[in-house]
Amino acid sequence: MDYFAYKNGELFAEDVAIRHIAKAVGTPFYVYSSATLERHYRVFAKAVSALNPMICFAVKANSNIAVISTLARLGAGADVVSVGELTRALAAGVAPEKIIYSGVGKTESDLRRALTAGVHQINAESEAELNLLSRVAEDLGLTAQVAIRINPDVDAKTHEKITTGKAENKFGIDIALAREVYRRAAKLPGLRVAGVALHIGSQLTDLTPYREAYGRAAAFVEMLRADGHTINQLDLGGGLGITYHDEVAPSPEAYGKMVREVVGHLGCKISFEPGRLIAGNAGLLITRVIFVKDGIDRKFCIVDGAMNDLIRPTLYNAYHEIIPVLAAGSEDVRFKMDIVGPICESGDYLAKDREMPALDNGNLLAVRTAGAYAAVMASVYNSRALVPEVMVRGDAYSIIRKRWTVEDMMELESFPEWQAEEDRTARPKSG
Ligand code: LLP
Repeated sequence: MDYFAYKNGELFAEDVAIRHIAKAVGTPFYVYSSATLERHYRVFAKAVSALNPMICFAVKANSNIAVISTLARLGAGADVVSVGELTRALAAGVAPEKIIYSGVGKTESDLRRALTAGVHQINAESEAELNLLSRVAEDLGLTAQVAIRINPDVDAKTHEKITTGKAENKFGIDIALAREVYRRAAKLPGLRVAGVALHIGSQLTDLTPYREAYGRAAAFVEMLRADGHTINQLDLGGGLGITYHDEVAPSPEAYGKMVREVVGHLGCKISFEPGRLIAGNAGLLITRVIFVKDGIDRKFCIVDGAMNDLIRPTLYNAYHEIIPVLAAGSEDVRFKMDIVGPICESGDYLAKDREMPALDNGNLLAVRTAGAYAAVMASVYNSRALVPEVMVRGDAYSIIRKRWTVEDMMELESFPEWQAEEDRTARPKSG
């Protein structure tokens, strides 16, 4: 459920006409609905409320400080995986004691920053990281609260690039090896190893792998307790899927019920790290048709948004629904087309083989479900500047990230000193 809808044949974000924003900021741009973000957070929070958990928004899904602060105002914490994300979460008003720092490759300076910021928990993913964390914590005279991320070896049945809980994935410590790691970690100074963490993948549309993985985690917690460890934190990760096309995603209520059944008896403080579920349906990418051209068996609709703005279609074969901002008059006439960007790569498309109404130069299109893993994954390939992000609330909108310019991009570049030297000493060319 989201707050993007047609009113009198024109697409609105809450009470703001998309066309007005396009006129003000140009295209392409991302637009987020704050009411949708808030609704998703509240629905999830209600579904798991019986567990009294920590809900840490996975900042990687959408790291705009305005998005984070919208959620922080409702009580959300943050799951961060870099110093960049940590800095954003703190700037957006998330209290350090609601921040979980995850990630498979944290450097010494990352750990130092996380500890000095006073984050609630660091999720460690290898023995080498635990050793380093122990040294850094001792050095700072601090105690790090740690959860060890286990890899439960469960197939999440999602796209191969976003499955994380199989033994062959780089994430976590194999559940078969982890018991020994806890034993050794318990002896390390500067650490309080109080938790177990897991995250088996993203865009999960079936509760079965969750049930299996959480069941293994619960049995593992009981084994650790029997070994004498005090384990009172259980971080269940994120991953709940959403509907992009025709997927039937489990409801947050069904997920909450399953979690209570499988791990409720442990009495652990539970944390969740949802990203896509909160932000996915809360954003659109708005793009404008540049040209439409005929091919042999299809049309090509060339738009000003491209794979650098939204890489999901080409990277994961992801489906994003695309709709016209002004509902076309002749809805019954449909054409098969590829909706492509201007980048010099055949992989530059937003949709393939899509049935669309007649489109013409200048028409605005909305790419739906672009609130998660969309703006955050943008690049500046082909020297295309990052596009603006706009947030809507009721009948107001605010530009929450300005459009970059090519000058902004070049600002950090420079010519090597020797070229200046060469230019100075070069003999003037004789004509
Ligand atoms: N926690 C951990 C440790 C994670 O690695 C992730 C996502 C999450 C939580 C949040 O998962 P979510 O609730 O959003 O599914 N770029 C890909 C998705 C990558 C997900 C990476 N990890 C995409 O566009 O589909």
